[in-house]
Amino acid sequence: MINNFIPLAKPNIQEPDIDLVKEVLKSGMLVQGKFVNQLENKFVDFTHAKFASALSNGTATLHLALKALNIGSGDEVIVPAFSYVATANVVEIVGAKPVFVDIEINTFNIDVSKIESVITSKTKAIIPVHEFGLACNISEVVSLAKKYKLFVIEDAACALGALFKNKHVGTFGDFGSFSLHPRKAITSGEGGVLITEKVELDKKIKTLRNHGIDMINNKMEFTEFGLNYRMTDFQAALVCSQVERINKSIDHKSKIAEVYYNEINSKNMTLPFTPNYTKHTWQTFHVILNKSIKRDLLIEKLKENQIGANYGAQCIPHMIAYKQKYNYDCEKLFPNALRAYLHGLAIPIHDFVSIEEASMISKTLNKLI
Ligand SMILES: Cc1ncc(COP(=O)(O)O)c(C=O)c1O
Repeated sequence: MINNFIPLAKPNIQEPDIDLVKEVLKSGMLVQGKFVNQLENKFVDFTHAKFASALSNGTATLHLALKALNIGSGDEVIVPAFSYVATANVVEIVGAKPVFVDIEINTFNIDVSKIESVITSKTKAIIPVHEFGLACNISEVVSLAKKYKLFVIEDAACALGALFKNKHVGTFGDFGSFSLHPRKAITSGEGGVLITEKVELDKKIKTLRNHGIDMINNKMEFTEFGLNYRMTDFQAALVCSQVERINKSIDHKSKIAEVYYNEINSKNMTLPFTPNYTKHTWQTFHVILNKSIKRDLLIEKLKENQIGANYGAQCIPHMIAYKQKYNYDCEKLFPNALRAYLHGLAIPIHDFVSIEEASMISKTLNKLI
């Protein structure tokens, strides 16, 4: 019976991916070899960005982007109130202040109309998130950033392959940050890739990820306070051939989403909205439950029915560390983020969910609530 369990997410690792990992392990060249380079080239080809750097995870990519832009103490960075905590944690880690903006409850993306009112003389950057694989209104974010001379770091951790008006997310801002964690479209275990259009920023990232090392007159010099955020070559090898399958995977997940739209008819949940100028990658299918529904109980009942389900992301200012430091009234300031955190539910969507299973999940949800 337990074998029929449909997990919330499941990476799709195939034999050719494993063969490439074996090749690296047998070669003895375990770090920063040819596959790291190959992966970076594949990201450039896929997203049409100019430059890409493979790093150790999607938090490291955000952290180094902030460091490369010299953002730190005394600076403010605008972030959505609803995201994975990493989006705001990196701002705290560099000593800057995350300034939260509420989200739209139907797309779960930053409410762009609320950004301008929080911009101050200390604001240095905006980190818009393409939440759950759906592009936010990035062109309006970039327009505001241009008006106020702010940097934009796109947190596209979950959104590899997502398009905004036919252009890949991650290519609008100064940086685009992707995660390769197993819950994402393609995975290296831990891993991340940072893309940029600017050669000087790319050079800085490649120095910062490698202890601040630069080659000067053929001599290794330590020119920056860098870190070790390198990706190993066997991680890069694992993910290299997965890049070729991204669009196939997105197509499959779009079909699963279509089943949910056609077959979930419970009045006690609201399905997400996709603006027509975006291509959703369906990293997560996230619904909002009516307040009368006890979410934890529902998650348990879904489990009994062999269906994995869980919360989607956090209302970050509502998390203990942020509450203790800032004590925001989230209900008043970020009502949509709080609602998405307290009443949101992610249901299975990945390469291994079949159309029949999506139909069964829909029927089960209709029956349970
Ligand atoms: C929106 C967002 N940003 C950043 C991250 C951090 O990525 P990683 O787990 O690879 O460090 C995640 C990971 O889930 C995420 O969802």
